[in-house]
Amino acid sequence: MRDISKISEPPEDLHICFGGGDFRLSGKKMIDLCREKFGLRPDSKVLDIGCGIGRLSYPLLEYLSEDGAYEGFDTFPVGVKWCTENITPEFPNFRYQHVEIYNSTYNPAAKTKAADFIFPYEDESFDLITLNSVFTHMMPEDIMNYIKEMDRVLKVDGHIMATFFLINAESNELMDLGKSVHDFFKFGIFYTADPKDPMDAVGYDEKFAVNMFAQRGFVIQETIPGNWCGRESNYHQDILLVSR
Ligand SMILES: C[S@@+](CC[C@H](N)C(=O)[O-])C[C@H]1O[C@@H](n2cnc3c(N)ncnc32)[C@H](O)[C@@H]1O
Repeated sequence: MRDISKISEPPEDLHICFGGGDFRLSGKKMIDLCREKFGLRPDSKVLDIGCGIGRLSYPLLEYLSEDGAYEGFDTFPVGVKWCTENITPEFPNFRYQHVEIYNSTYNPAAKTKAADFIFPYEDESFDLITLNSVFTHMMPEDIMNYIKEMDRVLKVDGHIMATFFLINAESNELMDLGKSVHDFFKFGIFYTADPKDPMDAVGYDEKFAVNMFAQRGFVIQETIPGNWCGRESNYHQDILLVSR
């Protein structure tokens, strides 16, 4: 394990911009899951899409060796700036990039649509791609393009961990019972909790989400239901573990 004692934690008010929660513990749980389910190795190459303020990079700072690498990109510049200034100088194999991609919540002034964005990486570069609480802020055509780009930059035997708010019989029933933190309703082909700012919290019919991956030849290795809708779980959002 590498010594990360010189790396400070991002200030509390910055955690909150990126979903809050227990910053260290929630990130560790997700990376532990990738280690257990996907056999993540210290020399793995990881891409963290919508990296925020580096929640998933903290456990990876300890786990990845100098032969491994972490790349993150995000449309909201604040987290990228903080991580670039505070993490990269000590850990040069951890890099963070700001990308100008439209998101009505996080970057409403950007002109480029996520549906048209080409990831700034070579083909077959990564063993693992993570998206924690990112597709929960994106529209269907944007996600379809991100899955296409992931197909391109992921190694043949690589894996994806992506979180969602999955709408299915159980989550619908729990929402009806008032147990959920979000009350989603159908808004075209996706679900939103707020029609005034649909990207603030986006849900997908579970079959629709699975099908978006299936269209690029990906299979869902496992679905781990989250506690967002009031069920018992160690994770907040639903997690799809995806392989080819
Ligand atoms: C709730 S935060 C989660 C941040 C981080 N993944 C974490 O676990 O703390 C959602 C993040 O997704 C980013 N995001 C939204 N749409 C994006 C897009 N099209 N491309 C890249 N990042 C995006 C936002 O800027 C924001 O940082």
